[in-house]
Amino acid sequence: MAPGAVFGLLLPLLLWAGRSAVPSNTWMVILDPMKPGGPFEVMAQQTLGTMNFTKRVHDVLFGDVWLCSGQSNMQMTVLQIFNATQELSNTAAYQSVRILSVSLVQAEEELEDLDEVDLQWSKPTSESLGHGYFTYMSAVCWLYGRYLYDTLQYPIGLISSSWGGTPIEAWSSGRSLEACGIFKKGSVSDFGAGPQEHSVLWNAMIHPLCNMTLKGVVWYQGEANKDYNRDLYNCTFPALIEDWRQTFHHGSQGQTECFFPFGFVQLSSFLTGYSDDGFPEIRWHQTADFGFVPNPKMPNTFMAVAMDLCDRDSPFGSIHPRDKQTVAYRLHLGARAVAYGEKNLTFQGPLPEKIQLFAHKGLLSLTYSQQIQVQRRDNKIFEISCCSDHQCKWLPAPMNTFSTHNLTLDINSCLGTVVALRYAWTTWPCEYKQCPLYHPSSTLPAPPFIAFATY
Ligand SMILES: *[C@@H]1O[C@H](CO)[C@@H](O)[C@H](O)[C@H]1NC(C)=O
Ligand SMILES: *[C@@H]1O[C@H](CO)[C@@H](O)[C@H](O)[C@H]1NC(C)=O
Ligand SMILES: *[C@@H]1O[C@H](CO)[C@@H](O)[C@H](O)[C@H]1NC(C)=O
Ligand SMILES: *[C@@H]1O[C@H](CO)[C@@H](O)[C@H](O)[C@H]1NC(C)=O
Ligand SMILES: *[C@@H]1O[C@H](CO)[C@@H](O)[C@H](O)[C@H]1NC(C)=O
Ligand SMILES: *[C@@H]1O[C@H](CO)[C@@H](O)[C@H](O)[C@H]1NC(C)=O
Repeated sequence: MAPGAVFGLLLPLLLWAGRSAVPSNTWMVILDPMKPGGPFEVMAQQTLGTMNFTKRVHDVLFGDVWLCSGQSNMQMTVLQIFNATQELSNTAAYQSVRILSVSLVQAEEELEDLDEVDLQWSKPTSESLGHGYFTYMSAVCWLYGRYLYDTLQYPIGLISSSWGGTPIEAWSSGRSLEACGIFKKGSVSDFGAGPQEHSVLWNAMIHPLCNMTLKGVVWYQGEANKDYNRDLYNCTFPALIEDWRQTFHHGSQGQTECFFPFGFVQLSSFLTGYSDDGFPEIRWHQTADFGFVPNPKMPNTFMAVAMDLCDRDSPFGSIHPRDKQTVAYRLHLGARAVAYGEKNLTFQGPLPEKIQLFAHKGLLSLTYSQQIQVQRRDNKIFEISCCSDHQCKWLPAPMNTFSTHNLTLDINSCLGTVVALRYAWTTWPCEYKQCPLYHPSSTLPAPPFIAFATY
């Protein structure tokens, strides 16, 4: 647990006014590290002249606070997911998981305090979790916190601050956008329901929280960038992570770790009239073009792959898949490994560590460091870029033989030179939990990747 992690306190606690010349109604106290647990009553008392001012906060728990942010897939509530009734029925067992929901507010300048909350720090109830659609408490956030609580057995605080249809630029400070060469203010397009203007949600829904002590952040966003600054997402996303980390570290006077863990959901799939609408590129850019996290540009991060959790019949549109349980489960595996240092826990699906061309045999051979499980053979999900006469095109490379760590692909359809290989490079790579490759013990799917040959 982070030293001094406090939640349940809904007042923004600012600097202890002490003997400052000008009396101030904002103050901050940093407590000594506390063991997780509670409930406590926290009392603050200030004496000014002959007057005592006392503030009491009841039912305070100590534990880890996670901030959950993003667009509509983060905003979706438990009411909207599969097995909603069942998932809403067990809140009594999770009274040590506390929830806070930030209202939808935008601002032109960084706010020091939240303008409004939908739900103050509260114990979970089926009413608050099932309040409506896309409102109050995020299902991914709730389920993630529940999994963490099941593992850690100590209090978890969850802050939901998300807004549907919003691009990453709305959640980014001017600083982090400038780091990616984005200077214009942008109040763009017609792609979404939420605010598009740069920084407005950072200002009103994230910055006011930065004096809190957080354990980490989880993030589910990217759909709204498929047609907006898509090619910059490999910069804007790592820049947002870095900027949030700095701001929260400074804002909490060092209580929030400077490289706090940052988890995110890689985009799922949705039905579209186009074969390529930018989802593969966003998925790749979500990893800063490495294909996996953590990586050198994204230290201390973790990712839940979700491209195999499609839901063509979702009443909220296929862009809003209803299986959030698996999303949260995969996310919490990453948290256990990366944020809580659990050793020997598999939290990533298999990626090839070596790709060899055996041209005379018409084969590409992929070697995985992890074990692979071939769930399904697929003749089209691997593709090679085949070049001849200065022209390249993507051709399917059918899966051929496989063993526990190896897979060969048939590349006989290429009469020229193979220059690249990609996997699952479509918006809808497979049906529900039926992608070709998984890790055998954990049901984690192999993530999508693109690799270029070096000759
Ligand atoms: C203020 O509170 C302190 C500590 O509880 C107490 O010693 C003091 O007498 C109080 N002063 C007044 C004016 O009530
Ligand atoms: C991001 O991706 C674009 C193309 O999609 C590429 O041109 C650019 O070099 C990449 N930038 C970084 C920082 O990796
Ligand atoms: C709260 O955070 C803001 C933004 O980082 C910072 O300017 C301010 O000094 C912080 N307040 C305290 C009391 O640390
Ligand atoms: C819904 O509940 C059924 C029965 O318990 C279970 O088999 C299924 O996996 C659940 N679905 C999700 C997405 O959790
Ligand atoms: C890690 O897991 C593997 C496979 O599950 C097991 O064989 C090995 O003994 C474990 N190592 C440690 C240090 O627990
Ligand atoms: C997998 O491929 C590597 C490299 O080609 C090879 O050294 C290894 O023996 C193969 N393993 C199996 C089980 O086929």
